[in-house]
Amino acid sequence: MNLDALHAIAVKMVAPGKGILAADESSGTIKKRFDAIKVENTEENRRDYREMLFRTTKAMQEHISGVILFDETIRQKAKDGTTLVSLIEAAGSIPGIKVDAGAKPLPFSPGETITEGLDGLRERFQDYYKLGARFAKWRAVIDIADGIPTYNCISANAQALARYAALAQENGIVPIVEPEVLMDGDHDIQRCEDVTSWVLSEVFEALFVADVALEGIILKPNMIVPGKKCAAQNSVADVAERTVKVLKRHVPSAVPGIAFLSGGQSDEDATAHLSAMNAIGGLPWGLTFSYGRALQAAPQKAWAGKAENVAAGQAAFAHRALMNSLAALGKWSKAEEQKAA
Ligand code: 13P
Repeated sequence: MNLDALHAIAVKMVAPGKGILAADESSGTIKKRFDAIKVENTEENRRDYREMLFRTTKAMQEHISGVILFDETIRQKAKDGTTLVSLIEAAGSIPGIKVDAGAKPLPFSPGETITEGLDGLRERFQDYYKLGARFAKWRAVIDIADGIPTYNCISANAQALARYAALAQENGIVPIVEPEVLMDGDHDIQRCEDVTSWVLSEVFEALFVADVALEGIILKPNMIVPGKKCAAQNSVADVAERTVKVLKRHVPSAVPGIAFLSGGQSDEDATAHLSAMNAIGGLPWGLTFSYGRALQAAPQKAWAGKAENVAAGQAAFAHRALMNSLAALGKWSKAEEQKAA
């Protein structure tokens, strides 16, 4: 393992004012997004959509440090025959790959899941490296409800994340370690704080046991937010302070960067929260975005599958990328949002 090379990639992924585009929706998930804009889920439409994003050249060059791809996309070519990977590289951005095989029901643990995909992963990493991937993503899912999460679920997922991360590093690939505590329930912010604290502590314990070098990973956590169905919603400042407090308690400063998932927050909430955290300042790690929905909902709507809307889709993507870039610097404001819109 060349830790210096891994560290250099990780540092580049969280360069000041830059963040990650999570465009790694599986064919099933992208179908849900396309259904919402009445676009048929064909290979060609998936290609055209992602080509539109990756050809938003200025935004890609200035705000997007890396792009997480799905297996189909890392092998796909643009309309003119260029590989989509080369489009990303030409913009100075790093191609990455989602390698997990999804969250499956955890036996004897109703309502909980374990993320699968470890079998054959060493060989897949070798293949993905040849295709240009320099970082990877594995998402563990922890739900909150009555009686869950259980220790069984948290420890099984933490172990899988650690084995994935070690295999990635062994093969020259920076692992994005993503333990996502969902915001789907009606729990309050304190419960999210307690569960996220527990999860992060188990994840870093498992990474230690697996000999994962923290200087060569990126953590992709949820923010500390109340469940979507909770009556009491908290202020931006409250979310920012609690999230920073939990991360400071549980994430060693050897980790170069933390890149949040958006998890179903509104576009503007995801941006406002990130900006408020960076405005606190004095943080030991880079703190940025690795958003899927919060970067793509607007361009999907503007594009709606029509060639004549490509410019509008790119403008919408460039706008969200700029807003989140400002947030990664702690410099976003509602005024910026309106000015650039
Ligand atoms: P969201 O930002 O839509 O949560 O997606 C990020 C991601 O990569 C989830 O695994």
